[in-house]
Amino acid sequence: MYLTRLEEEMLAGEHGYAAQKAMEILVALGKIYGAERLIEIRSAQISGVSYANLGEEGLEFLLKLAEDGKVRVPTTLNPCGMDLEEWAEMGVPEDFADKQLKVIEAYLKLGIEPTLTCTPYLAGNIPGLGDHVAWSESSAVIYANSVLGARTNREGGPSALAAAIAGRTPLYGLHLDENRAPTMLIRAPRISSELEASALGYRVGRMLGSGVPFFKGLGAVSRDQLKALGAGLASSGGIALFHVEGITPEAHRYSGMHAEEEIEVTEKDLREEIELLSESLEDPDLIFIGCPHASIEELTELYLLLGGRRIGRRLWVFASRAVKAQAEKIGLLEKLEEIGVKVYCDTCPVVAPLRRLGVKTIITNSSKAAYYLRNIHGVRVQLKPLQELVEDAVR
Ligand code: F3S
Repeated sequence: MYLTRLEEEMLAGEHGYAAQKAMEILVALGKIYGAERLIEIRSAQISGVSYANLGEEGLEFLLKLAEDGKVRVPTTLNPCGMDLEEWAEMGVPEDFADKQLKVIEAYLKLGIEPTLTCTPYLAGNIPGLGDHVAWSESSAVIYANSVLGARTNREGGPSALAAAIAGRTPLYGLHLDENRAPTMLIRAPRISSELEASALGYRVGRMLGSGVPFFKGLGAVSRDQLKALGAGLASSGGIALFHVEGITPEAHRYSGMHAEEEIEVTEKDLREEIELLSESLEDPDLIFIGCPHASIEELTELYLLLGGRRIGRRLWVFASRAVKAQAEKIGLLEKLEEIGVKVYCDTCPVVAPLRRLGVKTIITNSSKAAYYLRNIHGVRVQLKPLQELVEDAVR
Protein backbone atom coordinates (compact mmCIF):
# COMPACT_ATOMS: atom_id res chain seq x y z
CA MET A 1 0.00 0.00 0.00
CA TYR A 2 1.32 3.44 -0.90
CA LEU A 3 2.08 5.63 2.14
CA THR A 4 2.99 9.33 2.18
CA ARG A 5 6.08 10.52 4.05
CA LEU A 6 4.00 11.59 7.06
CA GLU A 7 2.24 8.22 7.13
CA GLU A 8 5.60 6.40 6.95
CA GLU A 9 6.86 8.51 9.85
CA MET A 10 3.78 7.79 11.95
CA LEU A 11 4.11 4.08 11.22
CA ALA A 12 7.78 4.17 12.23
CA GLY A 13 6.86 5.66 15.61
CA GLU A 14 8.31 9.13 14.93
CA HIS A 15 5.04 10.77 16.03
CA GLY A 16 4.60 8.74 19.21
CA TYR A 17 3.03 5.51 20.41
CA ALA A 18 -0.64 6.34 19.67
CA ALA A 19 0.03 7.47 16.08
CA GLN A 20 2.11 4.34 15.48
CA LYS A 21 -0.60 2.02 16.84
CA ALA A 22 -3.21 3.86 14.77
CA MET A 23 -1.17 3.44 11.58
CA GLU A 24 -0.57 -0.25 12.30
CA ILE A 25 -4.33 -0.80 12.54
CA LEU A 26 -5.05 1.20 9.36
CA VAL A 27 -2.32 -0.45 7.30
CA ALA A 28 -3.46 -3.91 8.41
CA LEU A 29 -7.04 -3.05 7.45
CA GLY A 30 -5.95 -1.56 4.13
CA LYS A 31 -4.06 -4.74 3.27
CA ILE A 32 -7.02 -6.96 4.16
CA TYR A 33 -9.35 -4.94 1.91
CA GLY A 34 -6.86 -4.30 -0.90
CA ALA A 35 -6.72 -0.50 -0.46
CA GLU A 36 -4.09 1.18 -2.64
CA ARG A 37 -3.61 4.06 -0.22
CA LEU A 38 -5.10 5.99 2.68
CA ILE A 39 -7.43 8.94 2.25
CA GLU A 40 -7.73 11.99 4.51
CA ILE A 41 -11.01 12.24 6.45
CA ARG A 42 -13.11 15.21 7.61
CA SER A 43 -14.35 13.67 10.85
CA ALA A 44 -14.54 10.51 12.93
CA GLN A 45 -17.22 9.05 15.19
CA ILE A 46 -16.33 6.40 17.71
CA SER A 47 -18.46 3.62 19.18
CA GLY A 48 -17.52 1.29 22.02
CA VAL A 49 -17.73 3.98 24.69
CA SER A 50 -19.77 2.23 27.36
CA TYR A 51 -17.68 0.65 30.09
CA ALA A 52 -20.18 -2.24 29.87
CA ASN A 53 -18.74 -3.04 26.40
CA LEU A 54 -15.11 -1.92 26.85
CA GLY A 55 -14.33 -3.59 30.16
CA GLU A 56 -11.00 -3.24 31.94
CA GLU A 57 -8.86 -4.21 28.93
CA GLY A 58 -10.47 -1.63 26.69
CA LEU A 59 -10.03 1.05 29.34
CA GLU A 60 -6.32 0.22 29.72
CA PHE A 61 -5.77 0.39 25.94
CA LEU A 62 -7.43 3.81 25.85
CA LEU A 63 -5.37 5.12 28.77
CA LYS A 64 -2.19 3.98 27.04
CA LEU A 65 -3.16 5.73 23.78
CA ALA A 66 -4.08 8.88 25.69
CA GLU A 67 -0.54 9.14 27.14
CA ASP A 68 0.76 10.75 23.94
CA GLY A 69 -2.11 10.58 21.43
CA LYS A 70 -4.31 13.33 19.94
CA VAL A 71 -6.92 13.13 17.23
CA ARG A 72 -6.18 15.00 13.98
CA VAL A 73 -9.81 15.59 12.91
CA PRO A 74 -13.04 16.58 14.70
CA THR A 75 -14.15 13.42 16.47
CA THR A 76 -17.33 12.64 18.38
CA LEU A 77 -18.34 9.80 20.67
CA ASN A 78 -21.21 7.32 20.68
CA PRO A 79 -23.38 7.01 23.82
CA CYS A 80 -21.79 5.63 26.97
CA GLY A 81 -23.36 3.64 29.80
CA MET A 82 -24.99 6.52 31.69
CA ASP A 83 -26.14 10.14 31.67
CA LEU A 84 -22.98 11.94 32.79
CA GLU A 85 -24.95 14.48 34.84
CA GLU A 86 -27.86 12.38 36.11
CA TRP A 87 -26.45 8.87 36.39
CA ALA A 88 -27.36 8.60 40.07
CA GLU A 89 -30.98 9.52 39.34
CA MET A 90 -31.03 6.90 36.55
CA GLY A 91 -30.04 4.32 39.16
CA VAL A 92 -26.56 3.59 37.77
CA PRO A 93 -24.36 2.01 40.48
CA GLU A 94 -21.36 4.04 41.69
CA ASP A 95 -18.71 1.42 40.83
CA PHE A 96 -19.89 1.44 37.20
CA ALA A 97 -20.04 5.25 37.12
CA ASP A 98 -16.41 5.52 38.34
CA LYS A 99 -15.14 3.30 35.53
CA GLN A 100 -17.31 5.04 32.94
CA LEU A 101 -15.94 8.44 33.94
CA LYS A 102 -12.37 7.15 33.51
CA VAL A 103 -13.23 6.04 29.96
CA ILE A 104 -14.59 9.50 29.15
CA GLU A 105 -11.52 11.18 30.66
CA ALA A 106 -9.25 9.12 28.40
CA TYR A 107 -11.27 10.13 25.32
CA LEU A 108 -11.17 13.78 26.40
CA LYS A 109 -7.41 13.58 26.75
CA LEU A 110 -7.24 12.33 23.18
CA GLY A 111 -9.00 15.54 22.11
CA ILE A 112 -12.36 13.93 21.37
CA GLU A 113 -15.63 15.84 21.88
CA PRO A 114 -17.83 14.09 24.46
CA THR A 115 -21.02 14.43 22.37
CA LEU A 116 -21.97 10.89 23.42
CA THR A 117 -24.65 10.42 20.82
CA CYS A 118 -25.49 8.03 17.99
CA THR A 119 -26.91 11.02 16.06
CA PRO A 120 -23.78 13.19 15.68
CA TYR A 121 -25.46 14.73 12.62
CA LEU A 122 -28.02 16.29 15.01
CA ALA A 123 -25.22 17.59 17.21
CA GLY A 124 -22.94 19.51 14.85
CA ASN A 125 -20.91 16.72 13.23
CA ILE A 126 -22.53 17.00 9.77
CA PRO A 127 -20.41 15.84 6.83
CA GLY A 128 -21.36 17.10 3.38
CA LEU A 129 -22.00 15.33 0.09
CA GLY A 130 -18.91 13.37 -0.95
CA ASP A 131 -16.96 14.02 2.28
CA HIS A 132 -14.84 11.09 3.44
CA VAL A 133 -15.28 10.27 7.13
CA ALA A 134 -14.65 7.31 9.45
CA TRP A 135 -17.69 6.59 11.59
CA SER A 136 -18.48 3.48 13.56
CA GLU A 137 -21.99 3.61 15.02
CA SER A 138 -23.93 1.54 12.47
CA SER A 139 -27.07 3.73 12.47
CA ALA A 140 -24.94 6.87 12.07
CA VAL A 141 -22.81 5.28 9.34
CA ILE A 142 -25.85 4.42 7.25
CA TYR A 143 -27.37 7.88 7.83
CA ALA A 144 -24.12 9.61 6.82
CA ASN A 145 -23.81 7.54 3.62
CA SER A 146 -27.45 7.53 2.60
CA VAL A 147 -29.08 10.74 3.82
CA LEU A 148 -26.06 13.08 3.85
CA GLY A 149 -24.22 11.52 0.90
CA ALA A 150 -20.95 11.36 2.84
CA ARG A 151 -18.65 8.35 2.50
CA THR A 152 -17.75 5.98 5.27
CA ASN A 153 -17.28 2.29 5.77
CA ARG A 154 -18.83 0.69 8.79
CA GLU A 155 -15.83 1.07 11.06
CA GLY A 156 -15.30 -0.78 14.31
CA GLY A 157 -14.58 1.30 17.43
CA PRO A 158 -10.78 0.67 17.24
CA SER A 159 -10.49 1.42 13.50
CA ALA A 160 -12.52 4.65 13.84
CA LEU A 161 -10.27 5.70 16.72
CA ALA A 162 -7.18 4.83 14.66
CA ALA A 163 -8.56 6.89 11.75
CA ALA A 164 -9.23 9.82 14.11
CA ILE A 165 -5.66 9.75 15.46
CA ALA A 166 -4.06 9.37 12.02
CA GLY A 167 -6.60 11.66 10.28
CA ARG A 168 -7.05 9.14 7.47
CA THR A 169 -8.61 5.80 6.57
CA PRO A 170 -7.93 3.12 3.94
CA LEU A 171 -9.49 3.90 0.56
CA TYR A 172 -11.85 0.99 -0.14
CA GLY A 173 -15.51 -0.04 0.12
CA LEU A 174 -18.04 2.79 0.29
CA HIS A 175 -15.36 5.45 -0.24
CA LEU A 176 -15.34 4.33 -3.90
CA ASP A 177 -18.04 5.18 -6.48
CA GLU A 178 -18.31 1.65 -7.80
CA ASN A 179 -19.47 0.27 -4.46
CA ARG A 180 -22.29 2.79 -3.99
CA ALA A 181 -24.57 1.52 -6.75
CA PRO A 182 -27.78 -0.29 -5.74
CA THR A 183 -27.73 -4.07 -5.70
CA MET A 184 -31.42 -4.67 -5.05
CA LEU A 185 -34.64 -2.83 -5.87
CA ILE A 186 -37.16 -2.80 -3.00
CA ARG A 187 -40.80 -2.01 -3.76
CA ALA A 188 -42.08 -0.82 -0.42
CA PRO A 189 -45.41 0.40 0.93
CA ARG A 190 -45.96 3.99 2.07
CA ILE A 191 -44.50 4.55 5.50
CA SER A 192 -46.45 6.46 8.13
CA SER A 193 -44.38 6.17 11.33
CA GLU A 194 -40.88 5.65 12.67
CA LEU A 195 -41.92 2.19 13.82
CA GLU A 196 -42.98 1.19 10.30
CA ALA A 197 -39.77 2.63 8.86
CA SER A 198 -37.65 0.73 11.36
CA ALA A 199 -39.62 -2.50 10.73
CA LEU A 200 -39.12 -2.08 6.97
CA GLY A 201 -35.39 -1.59 7.53
CA TYR A 202 -35.21 -4.54 9.86
CA ARG A 203 -37.00 -6.82 7.37
CA VAL A 204 -34.95 -5.78 4.34
CA GLY A 205 -31.70 -6.00 6.33
CA ARG A 206 -32.64 -9.51 7.41
CA MET A 207 -33.49 -10.57 3.85
CA LEU A 208 -30.45 -9.01 2.16
CA GLY A 209 -27.75 -9.35 4.80
CA SER A 210 -25.54 -6.96 2.81
CA GLY A 211 -25.56 -4.84 -0.36
CA VAL A 212 -27.19 -1.52 -1.26
CA PRO A 213 -31.03 -1.44 -1.39
CA PHE A 214 -32.84 1.09 -3.57
CA PHE A 215 -36.33 1.85 -2.22
CA LYS A 216 -39.29 2.80 -4.40
CA GLY A 217 -42.78 3.67 -3.21
CA LEU A 218 -42.05 4.96 0.28
CA GLY A 219 -43.83 8.28 -0.28
CA ALA A 220 -42.74 11.49 1.44
CA VAL A 221 -40.62 10.10 4.27
CA SER A 222 -39.37 12.44 7.00
CA ARG A 223 -35.80 12.78 8.23
CA ASP A 224 -36.72 10.83 11.37
CA GLN A 225 -38.23 8.04 9.33
CA LEU A 226 -35.02 7.82 7.25
CA LYS A 227 -33.08 7.67 10.53
CA ALA A 228 -35.30 4.79 11.71
CA LEU A 229 -35.15 2.99 8.35
CA GLY A 230 -31.35 3.11 8.38
CA ALA A 231 -31.10 1.92 11.98
CA GLY A 232 -33.33 -1.06 11.14
CA LEU A 233 -31.32 -1.95 8.03
CA ALA A 234 -28.04 -1.75 9.91
CA SER A 235 -29.17 -3.79 12.91
CA SER A 236 -30.46 -6.93 11.19
CA GLY A 237 -27.93 -6.83 8.35
CA GLY A 238 -24.51 -5.41 7.54
CA ILE A 239 -26.02 -2.72 5.31
CA ALA A 240 -24.31 0.69 5.40
CA LEU A 241 -25.95 2.53 2.46
CA PHE A 242 -29.41 2.76 0.94
CA HIS A 243 -31.09 5.01 -1.61
CA VAL A 244 -34.69 6.24 -1.67
CA GLU A 245 -36.09 7.28 -5.02
CA GLY A 246 -36.53 11.06 -5.24
CA ILE A 247 -35.27 11.67 -1.70
CA THR A 248 -31.71 10.67 -0.85
CA PRO A 249 -28.94 12.69 -2.51
CA GLU A 250 -27.37 10.01 -4.71
CA ALA A 251 -30.61 8.26 -5.74
CA HIS A 252 -30.93 10.26 -8.99
CA ARG A 253 -27.73 8.67 -10.30
CA TYR A 254 -29.43 5.31 -10.33
CA SER A 255 -33.05 6.19 -11.09
CA GLY A 256 -32.86 4.67 -14.58
CA MET A 257 -31.19 1.51 -13.43
CA HIS A 258 -32.75 -1.92 -13.57
CA ALA A 259 -31.57 -3.95 -10.64
CA GLU A 260 -31.07 -7.59 -11.50
CA GLU A 261 -33.32 -8.56 -8.66
CA GLU A 262 -36.18 -6.92 -6.87
CA ILE A 263 -38.19 -7.59 -3.74
CA GLU A 264 -41.66 -6.43 -2.79
CA VAL A 265 -42.43 -5.68 0.85
CA THR A 266 -46.11 -5.26 1.78
CA GLU A 267 -47.90 -3.64 4.73
CA LYS A 268 -48.70 -7.16 5.94
CA ASP A 269 -44.95 -7.98 5.90
CA LEU A 270 -44.30 -4.96 8.13
CA ARG A 271 -46.98 -6.05 10.61
CA GLU A 272 -45.45 -9.54 10.69
CA GLU A 273 -41.99 -8.09 11.26
CA ILE A 274 -43.22 -6.03 14.20
CA GLU A 275 -44.95 -9.09 15.70
CA LEU A 276 -41.77 -11.11 15.32
CA LEU A 277 -39.79 -8.66 17.46
CA SER A 278 -42.54 -7.94 19.93
CA GLU A 279 -44.43 -9.58 22.78
CA SER A 280 -47.43 -8.46 24.75
CA LEU A 281 -46.66 -6.56 27.97
CA GLU A 282 -49.22 -5.39 30.48
CA ASP A 283 -47.13 -3.46 32.96
CA PRO A 284 -43.73 -2.42 31.49
CA ASP A 285 -40.87 -1.27 33.74
CA LEU A 286 -39.95 1.39 31.16
CA ILE A 287 -41.43 3.08 28.11
CA PHE A 288 -38.82 4.81 25.99
CA ILE A 289 -38.22 6.57 22.69
CA GLY A 290 -34.93 7.71 21.20
CA CYS A 291 -33.26 4.81 19.39
CA PRO A 292 -31.47 6.32 17.53
CA HIS A 293 -31.38 9.39 19.76
CA ALA A 294 -34.46 11.56 19.36
CA SER A 295 -34.58 14.74 17.28
CA ILE A 296 -36.23 17.99 18.32
CA GLU A 297 -39.12 17.09 15.97
CA GLU A 298 -39.67 13.80 17.81
CA LEU A 299 -39.66 15.58 21.19
CA THR A 300 -42.21 18.05 19.84
CA GLU A 301 -44.42 15.30 18.44
CA LEU A 302 -44.28 13.50 21.78
CA TYR A 303 -45.36 16.65 23.60
CA LEU A 304 -48.24 17.25 21.17
CA LEU A 305 -49.48 13.68 21.50
CA LEU A 306 -49.37 13.91 25.28
CA GLY A 307 -51.50 17.03 25.07
CA GLY A 308 -50.61 18.17 28.60
CA ARG A 309 -51.61 14.84 30.24
CA ARG A 310 -49.45 13.63 33.13
CA ILE A 311 -47.35 10.50 32.73
CA GLY A 312 -48.50 7.57 34.86
CA ARG A 313 -45.32 5.48 34.51
CA ARG A 314 -41.62 5.76 33.68
CA LEU A 315 -41.34 7.41 30.23
CA TRP A 316 -37.76 8.16 29.25
CA VAL A 317 -36.55 9.90 26.12
CA PHE A 318 -32.92 9.54 24.99
CA ALA A 319 -31.44 12.39 23.00
CA SER A 320 -28.13 14.13 22.40
CA ARG A 321 -27.17 16.95 24.73
CA ALA A 322 -27.41 19.29 21.72
CA VAL A 323 -31.06 18.37 21.13
CA LYS A 324 -31.85 18.60 24.86
CA ALA A 325 -30.33 22.10 24.90
CA GLN A 326 -32.46 23.03 21.88
CA ALA A 327 -35.56 21.77 23.71
CA GLU A 328 -34.58 23.77 26.78
CA LYS A 329 -34.10 26.91 24.72
CA ILE A 330 -37.61 26.80 23.28
CA GLY A 331 -39.24 25.89 26.62
CA LEU A 332 -40.16 22.37 25.47
CA LEU A 333 -37.97 20.56 27.99
CA GLU A 334 -39.64 22.29 30.93
CA LYS A 335 -43.09 21.43 29.60
CA LEU A 336 -42.16 17.77 29.13
CA GLU A 337 -40.62 17.55 32.59
CA GLU A 338 -43.67 19.17 34.17
CA ILE A 339 -45.86 16.29 33.02
CA GLY A 340 -43.34 13.66 34.07
CA VAL A 341 -41.29 12.89 30.92
CA LYS A 342 -37.58 12.41 31.64
CA VAL A 343 -35.05 13.30 28.94
CA TYR A 344 -31.69 11.60 29.40
CA CYS A 345 -28.53 12.23 27.39
CA ASP A 346 -25.16 10.54 26.75
CA THR A 347 -26.61 7.03 26.90
CA CYS A 348 -29.42 4.68 25.87
CA PRO A 349 -31.01 1.52 27.32
CA VAL A 350 -28.96 -0.75 25.04
CA VAL A 351 -25.55 0.48 26.26
CA ALA A 352 -26.56 1.21 29.88
CA PRO A 353 -26.20 -1.53 32.52
CA LEU A 354 -29.94 -2.13 32.20
CA ARG A 355 -30.36 -5.12 34.47
CA ARG A 356 -28.63 -3.23 37.25
CA LEU A 357 -31.29 -0.52 36.80
CA GLY A 358 -33.95 -3.15 37.51
CA VAL A 359 -35.50 -2.93 34.02
CA LYS A 360 -36.81 -6.22 32.62
CA THR A 361 -39.73 -5.16 30.42
CA ILE A 362 -39.80 -2.30 27.90
CA ILE A 363 -42.17 -0.73 25.38
CA THR A 364 -40.50 1.25 22.60
CA ASN A 365 -40.97 2.17 18.90
CA SER A 366 -37.60 1.03 17.54
CA SER A 367 -36.94 -2.38 16.01
CA LYS A 368 -33.21 -1.85 16.53
CA ALA A 369 -33.76 -1.35 20.26
CA ALA A 370 -36.06 -4.39 20.41
CA TYR A 371 -33.47 -6.59 18.73
CA TYR A 372 -30.55 -5.55 20.95
CA LEU A 373 -32.48 -5.31 24.21
CA ARG A 374 -33.63 -8.88 23.79
CA ASN A 375 -30.29 -10.25 22.65
CA ILE A 376 -27.92 -8.32 24.90
CA HIS A 377 -29.96 -7.79 28.05
CA GLY A 378 -32.57 -10.56 27.83
CA VAL A 379 -35.26 -7.90 28.28
CA ARG A 380 -38.86 -8.52 27.14
CA VAL A 381 -39.91 -5.87 24.59
CA GLN A 382 -43.13 -4.73 22.99
CA LEU A 383 -43.07 -2.54 19.89
CA LYS A 384 -45.72 0.14 19.44
CA PRO A 385 -46.04 3.28 17.32
CA LEU A 386 -45.54 6.55 19.18
CA GLN A 387 -49.29 7.32 19.45
CA GLU A 388 -50.02 4.03 21.24
CA LEU A 389 -46.91 4.21 23.37
CA VAL A 390 -48.04 7.63 24.62
CA GLU A 391 -51.45 6.23 25.60
CA ASP A 392 -49.74 3.49 27.61
CA ALA A 393 -47.60 6.09 29.34
CA VAL A 394 -50.53 8.21 30.54
CA ARG A 395 -52.65 5.21 31.60
FE1 F3S B 1 -28.30 4.82 19.56
FE2 F3S B 1 -28.42 3.15 21.53
FE3 F3S B 1 -30.08 2.90 19.52
S1 F3S B 1 -26.60 3.93 20.62
S2 F3S B 1 -28.96 3.67 17.79
S3 F3S B 1 -29.99 4.61 20.96
S4 F3S B 1 -28.98 1.25 20.51
